[in-house]
Amino acid sequence: MTRSLTLTRPDDFHLHLRDGAMLAGVAPETARHFARAIIMPNLVPPVVTGAQADSYRQRIMAALPGAAFTPLMTLYLTEASDPADIVAAHRAGMIAAVKLYPAGATTNSDSGVRRFDAVRPTLEAMAEAGVPLCVHGEVTDPEIDIFDREAVFIDRVLDPIRRATPGLRVIMEHVTTADAVAYVQAAASDLAATITTHHLIINRNHILAGGIRPHYYCLPVAKREIHRRALVHAALSGDARFFLGTDSAPHADPAKESACGCAGCFTATNTMPILAELFEREGALDRLEPFVAHHGADFYGLPRNPGRLTLMRQAEPVRFPARIETGAGPVTVFDPGFAVHWRVSEPV
Ligand code: NCD
Ligand code: ZN
Repeated sequence: MTRSLTLTRPDDFHLHLRDGAMLAGVAPETARHFARAIIMPNLVPPVVTGAQADSYRQRIMAALPGAAFTPLMTLYLTEASDPADIVAAHRAGMIAAVKLYPAGATTNSDSGVRRFDAVRPTLEAMAEAGVPLCVHGEVTDPEIDIFDREAVFIDRVLDPIRRATPGLRVIMEHVTTADAVAYVQAAASDLAATITTHHLIINRNHILAGGIRPHYYCLPVAKREIHRRALVHAALSGDARFFLGTDSAPHADPAKESACGCAGCFTATNTMPILAELFEREGALDRLEPFVAHHGADFYGLPRNPGRLTLMRQAEPVRFPARIETGAGPVTVFDPGFAVHWRVSEPV
């Protein structure tokens, strides 16, 4: 039996493309299926100014000759960020959002924010000018258990920021807990959340039970099954405040398969087939399109994509490459751990 599902072309509202040889290797994987993506600025050094974002955008486009893909650039918020530069870059259409990393929370976040008071004037300027803030929501306090860092961040950092900066539109990125889902659900329409492909599929057992599996290690780290279920429920709920941000975060295999492995799952290649399988299994295929193609665009104030993407259901499981080869080394493709029967129908 072959069935097909045609959707508005999807967007990825949280993506790491890196730079140089890795960028060249991974960018086509996203551009093949997605029309746009919010591009994370955590390069080394980070993308801090409008001019740096523009030059990074040009490098991305150079890696995608002929592709119909629009990178939505972001700036990395530091305590030294210039509010006027941020607002000007947003007005000029050079950036779609600003990213807040607590210093030390994740890969390449050393330049992030330590004293949240130091960025208050910038956040106020952003609220005034309508620049959305994307947030990596984890505290970095070594006393706090890694599985609690998202929930504690909501109380200690996110809620105070939102109260102090009325009108600031915030995207809580890659939510991993029932606590975050409940916080978003209870908030007004100025708060939204992205959910990754992998957090909809794995819980912490996938990383730790029966051997340590570095390709499932990412930040925020996957939590208990009860939290995964809360994420699935939010994604299927039709609530417009939840949308896809894959957080596809490539690292070359030797950097993952190491005594101190990097955080990040690479899902760009097979996200759409995996999500179709998951939503189908949950009896909610009709909820896939709003989650991947409507809610995020609406929250960011972008037009929905005119293009379409067609997925075909195969009788037999579809095989995906275990890894892609890039000029920066091999990158393992996320394995959902279940058979996937969907493939994206490539235009002929
Ligand atoms: C991301 C990366 O590798 O840049 N890693 C990850 O585990 N998600 C950083 C991030 O988004 O936290
Ligand atoms: Zn990320």
